Amino acid sequence: MQTNILANADKVLNSLAEYIVKKASKAIAERERFAIALSGGSSPKKLYELLASPAFRNRIEWDKTFFFFGDERYVPQTDADSNYLMVYNALFAPLDIEEANIFAVDTALSPEKAAIEYTNVIKVFFTEKEWRFDLVLLGLGDDAHTASLFPGTAVLHDTEPAVKENFLKNKQVYRITFNAPLINQARAIAFLVYGESKKTAVQQVMSGARKTELYPAQLIAPQNGEVQWFMDTAAAASL
Ligand code: 6PG
Repeated sequence: MQTNILANADKVLNSLAEYIVKKASKAIAERERFAIALSGGSSPKKLYELLASPAFRNRIEWDKTFFFFGDERYVPQTDADSNYLMVYNALFAPLDIEEANIFAVDTALSPEKAAIEYTNVIKVFFTEKEWRFDLVLLGLGDDAHTASLFPGTAVLHDTEPAVKENFLKNKQVYRITFNAPLINQARAIAFLVYGESKKTAVQQVMSGARKTELYPAQLIAPQNGEVQWFMDTAAAASL
């Protein structure tokens, strides 16, 4: 695990954007395509806008880049909570990304069917036995969840790679999420975490006792890949 701690969010976002450029060119050079699983929520929106900006828009071969979602809220793609909608507005539309390069969760299906269907989409995309994303972007919740792997939920005990539906009792909503075995098959995983509100979760995940039920982000440990943390000093303040 490598931690990149920078002075402020802008520096963190630029550092992660440069890392994505590097991973994309390596993947495309080796396998002629770059498969990335995007994270949702509010933190990565600025990252996606930065990638679509003049500073980065011409530095990745977007036609050879294939976008997946590490998790999705179980809402229509037109809903303000939709990760797909957030990424569409921040990245896909400004870069005019081809639909064929975007693999969104079909939230028009039932939660269980949406998860099964998305698992099959991934299985078909990766011809090899292992479904190895070149890069999985992750965020970190204040409660130390990542993707939609929330504390105390059954999906934390999965042993086989898959996409699963996850019902969040406290919010009375469904999420559709990569499970940890699927994330951990990735060649590279990058956490984007900034802001003072994250400092406790960062400390719990990175230097607290191993309590994966409480701190699900501790499940992230790729068998044959790298994990990089991109944080500002505020999020790293309790380390
Ligand atoms: C989501 C995300 C989720 C997110 C964390 C942090 O769909 O919400 O995938 O795991 O990364 O909740 O969210 P913020 O970046 O909004 O703090």
